[in-house]
Amino acid sequence: MIVFENHVFYLHTENTSYAMGIFQDEILLHLYWGKRISNVLSTDMISEFKMRSLSAKNYGEYSTEILPLEFSSYGSADTRIPTFDCVFADGSRVSKFVYKDYKIVSGKPPVPGLPATYCENNSESDTLIIHLRDELKQIEIYLYYSVFEKYNVITRRVKIINNGEKIRVNSALSMSVDFPAVEDMDILHLGGAWARECHIIRNPLVHGNQNIESRYGASSAMQNPFLVLCDKNADENMGNVYGFSLVYSGNFTAGAELDAYHTARVYMGINPFGFEWVLQSGGEFFTPETVMVYSSNGFGEMSRTYHKLYRTRLCRREYKNKKRFVLMNSWEAVYFDVNEEKIIRIAEKAKEIGIDTVVLDDGWFGARVNGKAGLGDWVENKERFPNGLRYVAQRLNHMGLHFGVWFEPEMVNPDSDLYRKHPDWVLHTKGRVSTLTRFQLTLDLSRADVRDYIVDSVSRVLENANIEYVKWDMNRYMTEAGSALLATENQGEVMHRYMLGLYEVLERLTKKFPSVLFEGCASGGGRFDPGMLYYMPQIWTSDDSDAIERLYIQCGTSLVYPYSSMGAHVSASPNHQVGRVTPFEMRCHVALPGQFGFELDLEKCTENELQTAKKAICQYRELESIFHNGDCYRLLSPFENDVAAIEFISEDRETIVLCVYSIKATPNNVYSFIKLRGLDQAEYSDGERIYNGEYLENVGLFFMNNIEHKSKLLVFKRM
Ligand code: DGJ
Repeated sequence: MIVFENHVFYLHTENTSYAMGIFQDEILLHLYWGKRISNVLSTDMISEFKMRSLSAKNYGEYSTEILPLEFSSYGSADTRIPTFDCVFADGSRVSKFVYKDYKIVSGKPPVPGLPATYCENNSESDTLIIHLRDELKQIEIYLYYSVFEKYNVITRRVKIINNGEKIRVNSALSMSVDFPAVEDMDILHLGGAWARECHIIRNPLVHGNQNIESRYGASSAMQNPFLVLCDKNADENMGNVYGFSLVYSGNFTAGAELDAYHTARVYMGINPFGFEWVLQSGGEFFTPETVMVYSSNGFGEMSRTYHKLYRTRLCRREYKNKKRFVLMNSWEAVYFDVNEEKIIRIAEKAKEIGIDTVVLDDGWFGARVNGKAGLGDWVENKERFPNGLRYVAQRLNHMGLHFGVWFEPEMVNPDSDLYRKHPDWVLHTKGRVSTLTRFQLTLDLSRADVRDYIVDSVSRVLENANIEYVKWDMNRYMTEAGSALLATENQGEVMHRYMLGLYEVLERLTKKFPSVLFEGCASGGGRFDPGMLYYMPQIWTSDDSDAIERLYIQCGTSLVYPYSSMGAHVSASPNHQVGRVTPFEMRCHVALPGQFGFELDLEKCTENELQTAKKAICQYRELESIFHNGDCYRLLSPFENDVAAIEFISEDRETIVLCVYSIKATPNNVYSFIKLRGLDQAEYSDGERIYNGEYLENVGLFFMNNIEHKSKLLVFKRM
């Protein structure tokens, strides 16, 4: 997988190659990333990258201002966005890293304290570690490149060791890569807001720096830590596409800077905004990892690569492979108005239609009867649950149902026993008013005592009753982020320390309760990122449960995350977020490919709707492994068409599921055919007709879009 020949490092996966060269014994150049090639490169290929008029001359005829680099630092000739920037003890900021040596290790070393992709045995991956040094200041940089050969994935991260005097790190990105000679490329990312997450945004790459970032203290609903650089004409099936996905849940930055000579530097990592890290002499710092995917066959292939890697080499523990639950969540059924009697009634109705798990959402603990009080006090509200959660669990278990519970452990209402006892346990800055969001403040997870409190209080609830599912919510972003315990010079570390603290808490709890299924949530997709997926294999995709809105959100999310990671529920109509009326069947069809569930008052459903729900649950159990382990093809994007269509092909290629949805219909519509993808030249039957794979791919299936919100779910079996 990794070869070093003629001063060039090659990282080969089955279909791709990535290459770097050592130039003038010092500079690590980026030489190539694309379709697999043999070991034919040399650093001579950049011999034309000579200095231009007025460029800073630091390597003979060459300049790091112009050369395509693999790593860059602040202060010398290269003025593009640096991978690393620090202030030294003497107040200077200029650093210069030169190549020292390298090492290849079999397998993929974990990243201390941070989530990361992993290999199950060392033969799956090799890791190249390139060592650079700032000789003057004795700072060592180790660039880690791990190659997942069969997956066609390369990951990158950086380890910094300070062997000199104390420094203040201003920026420590996970990677940057310079693409030389860029013409006509686009950048694409997933942006949005609460209840409008992961909309696909595509723009031409223009001269200058185009950046996406989060400054919210969480990866956020506004921007996802994911970026694509692609050919102008790239689509689902063709074109060069380069994906970058950051395994991190906090503030991030990512972007592409097209310089004066059309070299594009793509960079990604922890956001330098609001970040400062004091690295003592002898100290180490680890960046999160970036997962990089190149596809020569458009976005579809890139997404399928990410899906496979993330569901099998990022998600962990029991539920990685185990069948998940079909949930009935109490939130959109009764909101805060929960009690023992209601949850048991909800359970009885759920049981009748074949749901297997009932989730008690917000409102069960402390003084939490609305959003204003009780958050942080993880003890049952005795008025609402006089017999405790253990009794509820027993009643549900007796009916043959599993029981799940909602927590928001990272937060506190000022009106709570916890806050009254420990007002300094929240993120705050002395002398500043702490801004409330949803009447709550953020607990300071950089503190060990706070982390212990969270682990202990959640454990107590989980140990006391048979709770098999936890919804781990987080409903506000950070403001006035400071910590009462950190020293003055370390206050700039608080948001990253929070993330390290959160990951520690999640590691402890998921290890302690391996058979509990944890689902992430942050007012929906406010923290839908690979960092969270490492601990929790599914995430509530959005608080917008409207079927049409979900087509956009789920399609955007699927650019990088598999359907197996997307919580998707059938909710009421008119929809509570947008008031839209949609047929019950369509709501089922939209939610089915995700982690399927319900979130509505079944007592208000008609007999017909209940029968549709029952049928959908059976269908889900029949098809879930195809949705979740199969290959996904986005045939028609809702962002571009009035009809959306997705196809799933089972791992054994025996079954094909086609989901088609009308978003907006026109009367007396024109004819249209939906062409399938990725099929073999075989015969397939939908139970009524037999089709040839070639026919389905080239002629397609007729779909008349004349009834708004009509949907179809077709299953084809290979004959
Ligand atoms: C936000 C979540 O996204 C909702 O699903 C629900 O759990 C509420 N929080 C409860 O407060």
